[in-house]
Amino acid sequence: MAVPAVTVERAAWLRAELDRHNHAYYGLDAPTIPDAEYDRLFRELQGLEAEYPELLTADSPTQRVGAAALKEFPPRLHGVPMLSLNNAFAPEEVEAFDKRVRDGLETIAAIDYAVEPKFDGLAISLTYENGLFTCGATRGDGVTGEDVTPNLRTLRCIPLRLRGEGWPALIEVRGEVLMFKADFAELNARQRERGDKEFANPRNAAAGSLRQLDSKITAGRPLSFFAYGVGAGSNELAVRTHGELMDRLAGWGFPVAVERGVVTGSRGLLGYFAEIGEKRPALPYDIDGVVYKVNRLDWQDRLGFVSRAPRFAIAHKFPAEEALTEVLGIDVQVGRTGAITPVARLKPVFVGGVTVTNATLHNEDEVRRKDVRVGDTVIVRRAGDVIPEVVAIVPEKRPTRDLFGGEPLHPPFELPKTCPECGSAVTRGEDEAIARCTGGLYCPAQRKQALWHFAARRAMDIEGLGDKLVDQLVDAGLVHSPADLYGLSVETLAGLERMGEKSARNLVAAIAQSRQTTLARFIFALGIRNVGEATARDLARHFGQLEGIMGAEAIALQQVPDVGPVVAASIVAFFNESHNREIIARLLAAGLQWSEGQPADSGPKLLAGKTLVLTGTLPTLKRDDAKAMIEAAGGKVAGSVSKKTDYVVAGEEAGSKLEKAQELGVSVIDEAELLKLLEKGVEE
Ligand code: IVH
Repeated sequence: MAVPAVTVERAAWLRAELDRHNHAYYGLDAPTIPDAEYDRLFRELQGLEAEYPELLTADSPTQRVGAAALKEFPPRLHGVPMLSLNNAFAPEEVEAFDKRVRDGLETIAAIDYAVEPKFDGLAISLTYENGLFTCGATRGDGVTGEDVTPNLRTLRCIPLRLRGEGWPALIEVRGEVLMFKADFAELNARQRERGDKEFANPRNAAAGSLRQLDSKITAGRPLSFFAYGVGAGSNELAVRTHGELMDRLAGWGFPVAVERGVVTGSRGLLGYFAEIGEKRPALPYDIDGVVYKVNRLDWQDRLGFVSRAPRFAIAHKFPAEEALTEVLGIDVQVGRTGAITPVARLKPVFVGGVTVTNATLHNEDEVRRKDVRVGDTVIVRRAGDVIPEVVAIVPEKRPTRDLFGGEPLHPPFELPKTCPECGSAVTRGEDEAIARCTGGLYCPAQRKQALWHFAARRAMDIEGLGDKLVDQLVDAGLVHSPADLYGLSVETLAGLERMGEKSARNLVAAIAQSRQTTLARFIFALGIRNVGEATARDLARHFGQLEGIMGAEAIALQQVPDVGPVVAASIVAFFNESHNREIIARLLAAGLQWSEGQPADSGPKLLAGKTLVLTGTLPTLKRDDAKAMIEAAGGKVAGSVSKKTDYVVAGEEAGSKLEKAQELGVSVIDEAELLKLLEKGVEE
């Protein structure tokens, strides 16, 4: 059955239309239609091709979806070999390259160089015959690669038919297949969800995705491509420079780097290197350096090649961000908040421009997931200023009990049960990723943070004691716990760097002043995990005195509003640590006191045996605060006025209780008088 002319036309239109949208989306980064509309057109073309197989063309966008699985990749002989580049790392090497170029060209004039990112993916050669994509191959050994055509067809950013005109009958377009950082993160998240293996980095993910024998798998992977040159066919292009060549490639529908440019001389090269180095973290894809190419193509020809690399080009590489090394041990570090972080101690390795001896393993689950063990060979990554991390282990290199494999030599890593810094218990909440040391104030690793918190405005409010000074005091060994603050002398402080006598005097005064505080502030200042300002206030109000809180069981603590099992458990854990109790005892001995009542065995109960009734709104104290303070002083707060009532504390808009008091002749006092009672007691 002949295909109706209108259908032939419709199919051709759909192909062209889908191709145009593909180019807009991938080549120009400017989508022209919504994805759903694209899909509709795509399905229409698929339907026509199914009905009339003779409509199917090699360049049809429907051919990108993945063909039948292969047994192995057929070899592919490159028309022109795919060479590699020589590398430069230091500026001097770049200057030497520029000098070699000028010597080779016998000129002293400054040379124009085409400059572009060095994509961190895998090299690919795409063959187009009469404008049609016919074959795509990996680099292989440079002469023969692997034919991965069906897989490359699935990349929507690779044109199946060249746009425009002026292309030679046969051309090999060279470039790099890679995976954008965001696509990589998404792919890995998906792999994790499905319980599949995650990829170590975007480059591995790109390589693994492209080298799939089943192109349906490749079709589901978010691969991208950037063109950077031409193999066979380059002589037939009427272009003068590499820059013009790149413009041509872009015109034919290939994605090319927007960061490309042309600079002059070695200063221009080094300037570009610095500029891209700064942009690097923000680039959507990984690069491992930049590439410099003599811009004039006739000069490129004149310079030619030496062994397997061109004389006209060089790669200026960033220091490698990943390296292999061995795990000598796994320690744990205690952070400022008590967070326990497993850290791999490594055989020193040069990576990311520095020698790395430690790398973070983040947390317990992460170590388990990566299954890092002592003796393992691991990939270590250090990008920019980021803390070095262990990306993955190399399973084949795991040491075993005997030469022929079998049991691994070392057991899986386990987090210690006690803090390596202070010996306190290590705990981890049910839904939490991070385990913590319960040592609090006692643990040296947490001391600085604890001191800083202790001195904070909403805690003990020690003016002038900021985190820099705390660091200085701890580093100098002058302060081990908050209790030590109260023993600091002007003389000692004045001896510190950047500390004058006057500041020292002010600080000592501020520390002394902080002795008079409130129970709520004190509880908050202790830095008990999960006990914020509000909870500290509730605890102070409920218990009235410190001993009550310190001795309370979890059940009793949960009587306090908003204190649930988690908070109660951290309070119990904190006071169970003898070091914490010791520090508290020293603080009290240093003269800390609060108006909500003295610790149980010290000081008289000024309102013992007295019954008070609160009514109306007090000017500064909240009803609960006033109640807590009265109770802390041994008094009782009743809900109604009777003859037995000793005082009615009346505030604004006091109602019937005030009237009743006047009726019964009960003493009526205001807030100021209440505070006086709390301070001095009842004069009888
Ligand atoms: S030009 C004649 N330009 O770097 C040499 N290569 O060692 C042609 N690469 O595996 C290469 N970005 O895949 C060139 N902008 C770029 C590049 C680039 C990455 C890779 C290339 C090859 C390696 C060269």
